[in-house]
Amino acid sequence: MDLPWWQKAVFYQIYPRSFADGNGDGIGDFQGILAKLDYLKHLGIDAIWLSPHYPSPLFDCGYDVADYCSVAPEYGTLELFEQFLEEAHRRDLRVILDLVLNHTSDQHPWFLESRSSRDHPRRDWYIWRDGKNGGPPNNWYSTFGGSAWEYDPATDQYYYHFFFKQQPDLNWRNPEVKAAMWDAVRFWLKMGVDGFRLDAVGTIFEVEDLRGQKAPVSHDELLVMSYKAKTREEQAQTERLWHSMFKYQVDLPEVHDLMKELRRVVDEFPGRVLVGETEDIRFYGNGRDELHLNFNFPLMETRRITPAWVRRNQRRRLSRLPDGAWPCNTLGNHDSPRMLSRFGDGEHDREIARVNLALILTLKGTPFLYNGEEIGMSDYLFTDVSKFRDQLGIFYYNLLKSHPDLVDPEEAALIAARGGRDKCRTPLQWENTVNAGFSPEGVEPWLPVNPDYAQGVNVADQEADQGSLLNFYRTMLRIRRENPALMAGEYEPLGTDAACLSFLRIAEEQTLLVVLNMSEKKRRLNLKVPGQMELVFSSHRSQGTEMVFEPFEVFLAELRGVPENQA
Ligand code: GLC
Repeated sequence: MDLPWWQKAVFYQIYPRSFADGNGDGIGDFQGILAKLDYLKHLGIDAIWLSPHYPSPLFDCGYDVADYCSVAPEYGTLELFEQFLEEAHRRDLRVILDLVLNHTSDQHPWFLESRSSRDHPRRDWYIWRDGKNGGPPNNWYSTFGGSAWEYDPATDQYYYHFFFKQQPDLNWRNPEVKAAMWDAVRFWLKMGVDGFRLDAVGTIFEVEDLRGQKAPVSHDELLVMSYKAKTREEQAQTERLWHSMFKYQVDLPEVHDLMKELRRVVDEFPGRVLVGETEDIRFYGNGRDELHLNFNFPLMETRRITPAWVRRNQRRRLSRLPDGAWPCNTLGNHDSPRMLSRFGDGEHDREIARVNLALILTLKGTPFLYNGEEIGMSDYLFTDVSKFRDQLGIFYYNLLKSHPDLVDPEEAALIAARGGRDKCRTPLQWENTVNAGFSPEGVEPWLPVNPDYAQGVNVADQEADQGSLLNFYRTMLRIRRENPALMAGEYEPLGTDAACLSFLRIAEEQTLLVVLNMSEKKRRLNLKVPGQMELVFSSHRSQGTEMVFEPFEVFLAELRGVPENQA
């Protein structure tokens, strides 16, 4: 079956600041990435998603872009970027960039001009409004807390920001904004970039009449409520409140016309891909006219991935996708806990990580991996608040400090470390040496390095160890490449066992049975599968297809001689 490359590819997200420090200044850069391309090739991934590499004052770690057509000086130059792109392509690795459409940095020249006077031609590139009754234009919140409006005394108006006030929202109803941004898109596509991951697509439009939201609680109160919510009902209630609070600021219908327009721009260049940071399947459009991929985030929104959870997720997700739409699965990124910490049980974390990787690589859809997960990097909950770099962590810390009734002040730093995102952005651990080999001795990396690099959580040690998680990643990635059913096959669930997830992947040229024992118990299954079985891979045995599965076993068998009507 001839699938486009992005349906067959495994993507790997590089967080440039933390991936590899090539010039030894404590910050990752393109020189570093270039030096690790062979590592990535050998790992067996096919495409790289690069988190923002643009010049930025870094208020939101790069998601506050100050120039869409350039490279942050601490990461390198445009020439170096081109060299990286060429070297990646030479190794058959595709590269997609992060595209932040909703907002720019408040230091972007467009915004500096826009704020300079009410009659500047770029005034209307952002969302400026008069205040009301001595306050902001309405009662909308920023998702990161506080009002969504920032007063600008120089021109006596407020501007709108869905995220931090250092990230003013662009006015996408202004055609000049579109034209400027599509220019930036074409700039990279002409250079040969293979597509974009679209940041926060749901937030691009807000209702024009600015009608006020009616949530009966404040943003701070709702944060506290969400923190306290333990039962399902309490959680559902806080979700409803969040929805009502932001209902006029997210997921407006206009965004789909805009995405269709962007798709047409991208389609001017053959073979490119758009991936939305959204779980909303409406962004697939009719399956061919909007975004190529949207993340199946619901899959990762749980404490422990169980067979029942996956079956329900797949049933819901796959049945709702429009014709022609292709699924996309992930278990972690730079905004969420690391998969090892999130889904682990504290006892079998590494076994669970293996099964979860196998899950992502065997389900139907394009998998996205996050840098460092291949060596089992975990959340590093450092509590020295002076080292926090994520403003969200700092915001939580200050909020918690003002609620001594809720948490001990000492606990505040730990909870803020958990709520913030630095924990999953710490430098990649390359070796068992000072700074985990990320930066040279005597240089302080931009975020603290997780000391567990000394306990085997580093690339060099794991390369040398056949049984390591890293080598398991390599093996599983190879198995995926070698078995067409894992890419092209339809997904068909088998059975309802509580411990083992079993399903078929059925393609024209191959039918595979996948069994993942997600539990710490040995398990006998009574699966009725069509045809003869031949072992393709097991994490625990070298032969045999007996239906008895070891704890956390990953098992793949090919079914031969499957009657036509059953495949
Ligand atoms: C996206 C990014 C996140 C960022 C936010 C605002 O959710 O993934 O890191 O803070 O958008 O740009």
